[in-house]
Amino acid sequence: MKNRIETMTKVSPSLLAANFANLSKDIDMINRSEADWLHLDVMDGVFVPNISFGFPVLEAVAQICTKPLDVHLMIVDPGKFTEQVKALGAYMMNVHYEACPHLHRTIQQIHHAGMKAGVTLNPHTPVGVLEDIIQDVDMVLLMTVNPGFGGQKFIEHSIEKVRRLKSLIQQTGSHALIEVDGGVNGETGRRLVEAGVDVLVAGSYVFGAANPEERINELKSL
Ligand code: DX5
Ligand code: ZN
Repeated sequence: MKNRIETMTKVSPSLLAANFANLSKDIDMINRSEADWLHLDVMDGVFVPNISFGFPVLEAVAQICTKPLDVHLMIVDPGKFTEQVKALGAYMMNVHYEACPHLHRTIQQIHHAGMKAGVTLNPHTPVGVLEDIIQDVDMVLLMTVNPGFGGQKFIEHSIEKVRRLKSLIQQTGSHALIEVDGGVNGETGRRLVEAGVDVLVAGSYVFGAANPEERINELKSL
């Protein structure tokens, strides 16, 4: 548990685990809750072996969600969609390191569009690849499962990876936040926060619960 004087852990519930037949009910819950952001997972069936939702759905969600939008693009060439993500009024645009051959340029484009820029790493990508970009990003999103599906088992090695990322951030004086995504629950969340995580994404742990708001509060208090 963090000292109360420090900022509380941020929580970004992932809409992927919501009821797609009644999204407005789940978004009303998010709006009422203590959630900090809403995490939106876009998949293209190419970068990851699954397809989720695209801009028509995102636009509808953006119209009724009062929380800042944390958009996670699991797609090839994500920079191509910067203007469309901006038009949603998104707060954070996360692009995968593995999908961006010109990552520095993509980060610049996101910033020019007025959004915060997040870089996402797949489980196999070492944090060392961020050495020359860490000062330019607002957040690093570490995948703690392989991207593409909700409800997967947390990859244990991620704890050590968070510690290494935290030390890279401290050494370089970067202000980047650390966000994690995949297999987050009360138990993995506690260990991740102890290792240095600032923002927890949680899909099934929040939306699969009888009382999702209670789960959000639990994660925030870690
Ligand atoms: C997976 C997505 C996650 C997913 C997490 O590719 O990026 O955001 O919704 O789901 P849980 O929390 O159920 O592992
Ligand atoms: Zn995600």
